[in-house]
Amino acid sequence: MKANKNILDIKPYVPGKPIEEVQRELGLERVIKLASNENNLGVPKRALEKVQSKLSELFLYPDGSCYKLRTKLAEKLGVDKSQLIFGNGSDEILQLIALAYLSEEKSAVIANGTFSEYEFSAKLMNAKSVVAPLKDYTYDLDAFAKALGDDTNVVFLCNPNNPTGTYFPAKQLESFLDKAPADVLIVIDEAYYEYAYGDDYPQSIPLLDNYENIIILRTFSKVYSLAGCRIGYGIASKEIIEVLNRARQPFNVNSLAQELAVAVLEEDGWIEEVRAINEAQKEYLYQELDKLGVKYLPTKANFIFIDIQKNAQDVFQALMKLGVIIRPMTGFGFPEAIRVSIGLPEENKFFIECLKKVLDSLRK
Ligand SMILES: Cc1ncc(COP(=O)(O)O)c(C=O)c1O
Repeated sequence: MKANKNILDIKPYVPGKPIEEVQRELGLERVIKLASNENNLGVPKRALEKVQSKLSELFLYPDGSCYKLRTKLAEKLGVDKSQLIFGNGSDEILQLIALAYLSEEKSAVIANGTFSEYEFSAKLMNAKSVVAPLKDYTYDLDAFAKALGDDTNVVFLCNPNNPTGTYFPAKQLESFLDKAPADVLIVIDEAYYEYAYGDDYPQSIPLLDNYENIIILRTFSKVYSLAGCRIGYGIASKEIIEVLNRARQPFNVNSLAQELAVAVLEEDGWIEEVRAINEAQKEYLYQELDKLGVKYLPTKANFIFIDIQKNAQDVFQALMKLGVIIRPMTGFGFPEAIRVSIGLPEENKFFIECLKKVLDSLRK
């Protein structure tokens, strides 16, 4: 029995240990996780209360069309219900895109220094990945335009970019969309959309009126704090959604995720509250990092890319021993950088205290 070579070529994802396990192994009183850009404010209490009564209905299969959520979200976004697809996280939608639009004969254009699931999706289908380099840690859509080839079928754009936290402006996006052939699917992954601000940050939904070859991906995992539920969505033309639905499993989004997503959308003022805390904490972290003389990239998201200029794995291990889990950027192609999620005030303070200790010890 032989597995497919493209599958064997994929480096298996190595999941981090559960927090409790790290705590037990290291004998620590406290361990905080700032590694996956979650929203540590947690799920809004009212939303949790609203779904309590639904627990007893878990014997039923979920609604395969996510009707309630679809109706609510379509209204909120000002799109037609047929323009939405929901997935078990936006990760699943990336896979559906790969299943539907990539194959051995086709290629995808992907930045070097971006979210790893794009390359993974391409490998899954044995499609070729063409690399477009970042410029100053930011997507350079001119480089993407140059990387387009006859066999390009999908382009993956991440805005703001994970892990650098930078975004490309609206003008650059429109000029790229004008250059890209209409039969190439342009994926605009906006997992951190709600955190991004700036007059030149692209508002991508209105672009759907002029460009029929784009799909916008967003998620309930970040600002809406439902990462553990696994629910994300895509917005595109009815035709693209129709294609992706063919590859989708009928019950891909569980009932609790659907109910919670509706409930968090009903939380008035939630996004503003989360953003205000994120902004204030970002400033706090900038100030403290400046004091430490550590370089970082100003971020448009809920994480900071820190150019630590030391072996990222060593910094990661040393911080973990003190009870802070962050993400070394080695696998993203930055062996001397780390990415830290912007946490709650006391978590950020603890992270800075620990980082000071680690930098002191690595200097010795
Ligand atoms: C850029 C980007 N896209 C997609 C995802 C996946 O999100 P989800 O939890 O919806 O699968 C992440 C998660 O970290 C991300 O950073």
